[in-house]
Amino acid sequence: MSLILYAYNRNKRNPLSFGPVSTGGVLELTQIVSRAFDIGLSSLTDPQAAGPRAAVPTQTSENRNSSARSFYIETFGCQMNVHDSEKVAGVLLERGYRPVDAAADADFLLYNTCSIREKAAQKVFQRLNDFKFAAKANQKVIGVLGCVAQQEGEEIFERAPWVSLVCGSPSYRNLPNLIEQVESGGRRVTGLDLDTDETFETEITRRDNPFRAYLTIIEGCDYSCSYCVVPHTRGPERSRASDSILAEVRRLADAGYTEIQLLGQTVNSYRDPSPRKWNFVDLLLAVAEIEGIRRVRFTTSHPNDFTREIVEAIDATPALCDHIHLPVQSGSTRILREMRRTYAREQYLEKISWIHGARRQFSLTTDVIVGFPGETEADFEATLTLLDAIQSDGVFAFKYSPRPNTPSLAMPDAIPEEEKSRRLAILNERQRQIQIARNEKLIGARFEVLVDTHHTARNQWAGRTTSNRIVNFSTSRENLLGQYVQVHITRSAPNSLIGEEVQGGEAQ
Ligand code: 5AD
Ligand code: SF4
Repeated sequence: MSLILYAYNRNKRNPLSFGPVSTGGVLELTQIVSRAFDIGLSSLTDPQAAGPRAAVPTQTSENRNSSARSFYIETFGCQMNVHDSEKVAGVLLERGYRPVDAAADADFLLYNTCSIREKAAQKVFQRLNDFKFAAKANQKVIGVLGCVAQQEGEEIFERAPWVSLVCGSPSYRNLPNLIEQVESGGRRVTGLDLDTDETFETEITRRDNPFRAYLTIIEGCDYSCSYCVVPHTRGPERSRASDSILAEVRRLADAGYTEIQLLGQTVNSYRDPSPRKWNFVDLLLAVAEIEGIRRVRFTTSHPNDFTREIVEAIDATPALCDHIHLPVQSGSTRILREMRRTYAREQYLEKISWIHGARRQFSLTTDVIVGFPGETEADFEATLTLLDAIQSDGVFAFKYSPRPNTPSLAMPDAIPEEEKSRRLAILNERQRQIQIARNEKLIGARFEVLVDTHHTARNQWAGRTTSNRIVNFSTSRENLLGQYVQVHITRSAPNSLIGEEVQGGEAQ
């Protein structure tokens, strides 16, 4: 028997995973599926069962009541958005709402949006049109959250008058208050304040990944990359106090989580606002020391704040995962300057040399934008040679997408769409070859894998290494979900490894 707890939306382009080399990021980011995430009831109640015990009270006496108001959240975008939705779900559970697994069944329908590229933003109004009839016919309450909410603001009410709530992420801390206004009949309720130094913390977070707990340590962004909407939609940087972070990690460890992922748009510029004044490395080491925590990941790092100390800390601390996601965006110093990335090609390469020189075999992933205004063939070639030099294990490559309120919108020499597509295809193929060669070298290696998937049809298991590589493997054992196992690699593919469990080599 299983219990569907809450609509879970898996971001197929999670920049933390070794997904396929992007086939044109614009499309892929908007192809996020919304599906029910089915957690076995036993895993919530049976301490021996796979995965952690319930991280939070998932069913209160109120939300167990089927007459309670129901909610559904549909999420697009990055891991930060996915985790924001988990926290928003926590706010609703606290207020007695009941989660349902289909938009059609919900009294309160929330749509958490992404505007990083144009197509993602366009989708929002198409999707809101889908909700129009339901809103009118069934008196559903519709709310728009996230980056498009912040960017478009009250304009959303003009284009979709059936929407009752528009709230950007900097105002989520006011959500209980805003929801109360909607409950008492408010029809154009907004939370669009950018001017806040508080972070969004909730008593309850409805966590949907049973094996990896996400935790935001810093919100917003103080950089001003010329192509990027994030500083406009998520506001300035606000770090969360270290004692509050550590307390949450301890609660997660008590609930059975062994893997934690720290989140932030620029996670490594973390600055503890409390008198301890910890920097990012201080925090990393403290989280890694918490009993029960076996893996600590973080994303996304900004090259400007990426220090040698981070590499040294990971080298010296097995619980810190040896995977770095370090977006470069371009291999051309000229384009990096136009992008206002604050570093040159050589400085990026220097940081990569620290990673290559580490004792542990780190994996590296990066983001690249092709077709930025004025990008010449020589600039593009510089990006290709940079990929050859850094030998990364995954590249998330996107065609440049002009965004409102960004400096690059007005830049001359736009690259035609077909040319952007051509460059993207070349880059993806080049990177595919790099990954094929890198993964082939791992045949014969042994990895510890945290098992998170069982492919029942072919009786194969899958999970992640500390370096975030996907490993598919076979074994004669059963009930492996949530277990750490040792796997011997026998074959490789561009985006994953294949192997067999080392019998008698169980890690726990
Ligand atoms: N066009 C294309 N890609 C973009 N990104 C951010 N803004 C844009 C844009 N306007 C990409 C960057 C970033 C990733 C999350 O999205 O590569 O690292
Ligand atoms: Fe956007 Fe640049 Fe901030 Fe990243 S560092 S969120 S790309 S402005």
